[in-house]
Amino acid sequence: MIMAMRRSPSDAGRGVLLTYVQNSSSIGVDSICHYKGSAIRMIQMFEQNALSDVKHVIGVMSGKGGVGKSSVTALAAVALARRGHTVGIMDADITGPSIPKMFGVHGRLDASETGIFPAQTSRLRIRIVSLNLMLEQEDDPVVWRGPLLMGMIKRFWSEVNWGDIDYMLIDLPPGTGDVPLSVMQSVPLDGLIAVSSPQDVAALIVRKAINMTRMMDKRVIGLVENMSYITCPHCGEAVYPFGRPSGQEQAMGLGIPLIGEMPIDPELSAMADRGEVELYEHPIMESLADAISQAATGDAPTAEANRENR
Ligand SMILES: Nc1ncnc2c1ncn2[C@@H]1O[C@H](COP(=O)(O)OP(=O)(O)OP(=O)(O)O)[C@@H](O)[C@H]1O
Ligand SMILES: [Mg+2]
Repeated sequence: MIMAMRRSPSDAGRGVLLTYVQNSSSIGVDSICHYKGSAIRMIQMFEQNALSDVKHVIGVMSGKGGVGKSSVTALAAVALARRGHTVGIMDADITGPSIPKMFGVHGRLDASETGIFPAQTSRLRIRIVSLNLMLEQEDDPVVWRGPLLMGMIKRFWSEVNWGDIDYMLIDLPPGTGDVPLSVMQSVPLDGLIAVSSPQDVAALIVRKAINMTRMMDKRVIGLVENMSYITCPHCGEAVYPFGRPSGQEQAMGLGIPLIGEMPIDPELSAMADRGEVELYEHPIMESLADAISQAATGDAPTAEANRENR
């Protein structure tokens, strides 16, 4: 059940957020456009909250679930925050939110008449908005259909008072459903990072996600191949449990740059489970921060380049 965050006497018994969600029917279909025979339902750009100034927005996507999107989102946020940037994370994986837990953020968000206020992580002051920070119980299931999910994303963008943010990262749900589609159409993305794993059925599934960005004319900054290898704890050599081809070959096949390969690292999952992802160190974090900064300064491959690379 969705609960109020801070209730005024006038809304006693009704959550501020619940009211926001119930108003979500305001999202309509503006037009239909066609791409290679597919009809795409287009909706308007969402209006940014009047008190927010978000300079750059990067989405993190994948073809299928469990490949490490939330981990990559968290590590990119940490890397950017360590460079002194003000960073926000919008946890757009409404039905499977995991960002707050990775950062050890609990409790419920505050809200006032001017909007919802993000939570902040304890070490790097990364601002987080997630539906899990709005539920009465963290394990309450969210059983919503598309329009409500989209309404929530709209509210995360329009009703949250993010303040000044240098980089906002959006952790998308896997696949090519309603939420990634709405975010790509309605939030001004500078680009997207694709996350895959080597067992991604010959990259077919991640290719669908990349093709979706091309339909939407969005820039893919690059690919992170997660769980590529394990470092042997005895000899230090990399072991490739899923064999080759490498992330480099996968990225080339997709026509996008490779940001890096991440090993399976029990330390990462242990830290994430303990809510201590802000303490994690790995060289790929620098590569993520570099790739995102370059995209923000217009120094990354454009949508046109991506198309030409197909
Ligand atoms: N490189 C890694 N090494 C060890 N564990 C990892 C690694 N990447 C991710 N994990 C673990 O795998 C699980 C899934 O990762 P994560 O939640 O980041 O994936 P996801 O793509 O966001 O999943 P979902 O689609 O369910 O949202 C988590 O428990 C995470 O800690
Ligand atoms: Mg996730």
